Amino acid sequence: MFKRITFILLVGLLAWAYQAAQPPPPNICGSPGGPPVTAPRIRLRDGRFLAYKEHGVPKQVAKYKIIFVHPFFSSRHDPIIATAVSPDVIEDLGVYIVSFDRPGYGESDPDPKRTTKSLALDIEELGDQLELGSKFYVIGYSLGGQVIWKCLRYIPHRLAGAALISPVINYWWPGLPANLSSFAYKKQAPQDQWALRAAHHIPWLTYWWNTQNFFPKHRALSGKVGNTFSRQDWENVRNAKVSGREKHKEHATQQGEAESIFRDMVVGFGSWEFDPMDLQNPFASNEGSVHLWQGDEDKLVPVELQRYIAEKLPWIHYHELPGGGHLLPAADGMSEIILKALLIKE
Ligand SMILES: *[C@@H]1O[C@H](CO)[C@@H](O)[C@H](O)[C@H]1NC(C)=O
Repeated sequence: MFKRITFILLVGLLAWAYQAAQPPPPNICGSPGGPPVTAPRIRLRDGRFLAYKEHGVPKQVAKYKIIFVHPFFSSRHDPIIATAVSPDVIEDLGVYIVSFDRPGYGESDPDPKRTTKSLALDIEELGDQLELGSKFYVIGYSLGGQVIWKCLRYIPHRLAGAALISPVINYWWPGLPANLSSFAYKKQAPQDQWALRAAHHIPWLTYWWNTQNFFPKHRALSGKVGNTFSRQDWENVRNAKVSGREKHKEHATQQGEAESIFRDMVVGFGSWEFDPMDLQNPFASNEGSVHLWQGDEDKLVPVELQRYIAEKLPWIHYHELPGGGHLLPAADGMSEIILKALLIKE
């Protein structure tokens, strides 16, 4: 009798767990009942739409053309490098910047089949369809900075130069020494460790993990993002340099969280098909450069690991900023410095 009740309870629990783990289907932009399409979009090789937004000088007269890759929980509306630099400087330099909604964000179709490579190909297609020429620059920030590794791996021949700003590190990249990786991992808040572990080992549970209220979620999702700020980050927030970001958050996930932020976690911290530390210099004859920017007080991306990666790739121009936090490009004058270092050859 008891065995039978236990069995029935167990089956019930499993059925509930399975149900709870299934994210609702995305609310596709432009579909009946879905959010409206307001942005220009290109159609990609597999039929998906990619929404974009242009900034700076018109591309026809631009001296430099840049594709910007946005961070976690963000969208084409927040190309910090375009908004934090004064319009005069952008004009004087002759910079055109296009930002786009990464798949599943804002008004871009989800890409449930996303691979390590597919986002690099999306970026290449964006460059082609917007006729940015045979080579363009790429800049990515935070989780978008991580995407730049994929560009360096899969479309190096299309790059004029690249900047990775506070790029998020995947603790499971095989090239990281196990002891260093676990040292850095343990410095993260316990709930973040658990959320990332779940994203890496049980990706199909990621949606459930981050929407339930029993296990702690990642701080970036729990509304306690302030805990991840450094002293400099707090100053930037107080000076309202990042104030515009909050209002775009709703737009970022308007098609649902499963194919935007949770897909992001699973791809960012899942198993990769290559290791950034194995990359070759795409600019062997110095025709372009790759820059990596990291604050040494960044509480989301451990500086120890970034230093290690930079040491392994001596062709990268590594800039470590004392006192810098994760909101590095929002610090006074910083975005301008990052932009000029990338574009202007000494
Ligand atoms: C990891 O191990 C290496 C080699 O044994 C050692 O040199 C290094 O100091 C260790 N790092 C940490 C953070 O324990």
